Amino acid sequence: MDSLHAQTASTNPAPPQPEPSSLFRPLSGVLGAETDALDLSRPLDAATVEAVRAAFRDHHLLVIRNQSLDKERMYRFAELFGPIESHMIRLADGSKWDAVHTITNLDAAGNPVAKPFISSNYFWHTDKSFLPEPSLLTMLQAVELPPNGGDTQFADMTKAYDALPDATKRRVEGMKTVQSLEFMRRYTGSAPPTEEDIAAAPPVAHPLVRVHPETGRRSLYIGMYSSHIEGLPEEEGRALLEELLAHATQERFLYVHTWRLGDLVFWDNRCLLHRAVANFEMGKHRRVLMRVVVKGEAP
Ligand code: OGA
Ligand code: MN
Repeated sequence: MDSLHAQTASTNPAPPQPEPSSLFRPLSGVLGAETDALDLSRPLDAATVEAVRAAFRDHHLLVIRNQSLDKERMYRFAELFGPIESHMIRLADGSKWDAVHTITNLDAAGNPVAKPFISSNYFWHTDKSFLPEPSLLTMLQAVELPPNGGDTQFADMTKAYDALPDATKRRVEGMKTVQSLEFMRRYTGSAPPTEEDIAAAPPVAHPLVRVHPETGRRSLYIGMYSSHIEGLPEEEGRALLEELLAHATQERFLYVHTWRLGDLVFWDNRCLLHRAVANFEMGKHRRVLMRVVVKGEAP
């Protein structure tokens, strides 16, 4: 009796946790889901972690509202999805990113600049697809935002693949795209990579049709790093890549994220493309996002 009583008295009531199945609601008919019922400043229980992982698998992009995580907390949360990526490519100013870093439109003195620091972010891409083991997911937290705009667009490469004509599906099956940092810099009009960067990240071939390891679904693995197609004349490969990109980024495959302060957003680079939208007065307003990336596996 006594011991039972003691046990009951010493057990704190479990903090209220939202029902896992109702935690996230879809953001659009295409991709993405959101919640305002999570506080990531404290550790999550195992059932909630499982619900977040399941929602990520099903929706490919999650928005967790009203967060203000410091670097440490953001790192810890991202780590639930896999090892954190380190960054080896030099930025235009010669520096390299920390594991948790910021992306901004600010110059060294902290003033907004009209020309974005990383202009390639405005082209459709999937993060680090030029590496043998590209990024699994990218996580951003909105710290400072312009009054309007500064959106990010996402395109669903699974839906885009499914919508291809059967003949195109047959044509692209088994193809490999050569992904190249040097090509991307040319394609986006950015400064060429250094010799050191080229040596550290030589071009790599990845399947054009990528099979998701968790859902088993096929998607198009393309974007600004995709230089050409292995075994095809360069012109023919480029034409096919441009045709596929135009198809895959039609409005019907897109979700556009309009940021709110405190949004923590993360997406699956294995099956989505994304790009920043320059729809704000960049020389006037600040846009600051914290960023951390989870390392993935060979596609
Ligand atoms: C990124 C990225 C887009 C944005 O962080 O990888 O592409 O809208 N960001 O800032
Ligand atoms: Mn990116």
